[in-house]
Amino acid sequence: MTDTMSTPSAAQGEIARTNTAFIELEDRVAAHNYSPLPVVVAQAEGVWVTDVEGNRYLDALSAYSALNFGHRHPDLVAAAKDQLDRSTLTSRAFHNDQLGPFCRDLAALLGKDMILPMNTGAEAVETAIKIARKWGYQVKGVAADRAHIVVMAGNFHGRTTTIVSFSDDPEAHDDYGPYTPGFTTVPYGDLAAIEAAITDDTVAVLFEPIQGEQGVQIPKEGFLSGLRELCTQRNVLMVADEIQSGLGRTGTTLACAYEGVEADIYTLGKALGGGIVPVSAVAADRDVMGVITPGTHGSTFGGNPLAAAVGHAVVKMLATGEHQAHAAELEPVFRERLEALIGKGLQAVRVRGLWAGVDIDPDLMTGKDACKALARRGVLAKDTHGSTIRLAPPLTITEDELGQVVDALGGVLADASSSR
Ligand SMILES: Cc1ncc(COP(=O)(O)O)c(C=O)c1O
Repeated sequence: MTDTMSTPSAAQGEIARTNTAFIELEDRVAAHNYSPLPVVVAQAEGVWVTDVEGNRYLDALSAYSALNFGHRHPDLVAAAKDQLDRSTLTSRAFHNDQLGPFCRDLAALLGKDMILPMNTGAEAVETAIKIARKWGYQVKGVAADRAHIVVMAGNFHGRTTTIVSFSDDPEAHDDYGPYTPGFTTVPYGDLAAIEAAITDDTVAVLFEPIQGEQGVQIPKEGFLSGLRELCTQRNVLMVADEIQSGLGRTGTTLACAYEGVEADIYTLGKALGGGIVPVSAVAADRDVMGVITPGTHGSTFGGNPLAAAVGHAVVKMLATGEHQAHAAELEPVFRERLEALIGKGLQAVRVRGLWAGVDIDPDLMTGKDACKALARRGVLAKDTHGSTIRLAPPLTITEDELGQVVDALGGVLADASSSR
């Protein structure tokens, strides 16, 4: 290491308040693990964000549903500020006065006995995998190192080594081997394939009730209830990853509620931290969570008082049912307005609650180009695969603002069609 590398002044300097200047800096010094739209957000409130040049945008992505309550919701900011003045981190070496009340109310909201708090979504999924394997050995009686988990094609559960081991997305998966064994992939939503993949060593079926990263893919009616039945029959844990689909996004607290189904394990994240701090959790009943004993799993920051205070404020907001009801109420409007664009540049639309996957005619434009054009019209959204975009505005959006999102998309498609 040289002196210049450790001299603070060498790394500092005024940056022109332009999008370009910040993007150039970031390109130089931050790893290129994302390909963001050219918008540099400086301020945000509710459904609106403002970039460093003062341009305003309606945020129709909500940080992949981590901002279900919008940016800086006053109740959540107040809970965070209040806790910042008390205590922020204890580690789990000691108790804190926020964790118990948070876990009690989150468990009640989900209809489960116990909560294991973590930080990121991937950690929650890793935790659920560990719990399912341990349950397999200690409760189901699977022989050592034989535990097997069925997963879905097109899954997205995070970026850790084990999780990318069973991802079929080459960008997420390739060149990160050697991979963790013990997973079998079946087509998403295919009950017969799941049944065929289950063996005596199977401990869990891990699935997303709706596949967000895959473009809001909604399984066929009856999949969730059929899977519940199958898991019960075969003594296999039904593990629902509700990290993106949960906490109000689909018009219910959990997407599994669409078919009145209760999973054995839920993973939650994103919106649980209110868009303020990373908070994730695994929820399960005592007979499953009981396999976790002191020293067998943990995280320095998991269950910290700041995270628990914010998470608790999120749970209190969800307990009123107001946000879920609003999403459910706007769903038909959202669907109807988007479906009106089919044949005018859109090929297909999938909507549940305030969550939509729209497939643009690939001959017209890519999803990335559509998102760039949407940004020029003041709406932020993100492409997923090819020509698909995902729309997931904050659940606090008004009907009029939702109309602005669809109008902007209609304008982008009309522009592209007329310049063909
Ligand atoms: C369904 C699902 N599971 C897990 C994750 C991973 O969450 P995180 O990025 O917080 O690790 C995501 C993130 O998009 C997700 O959508």
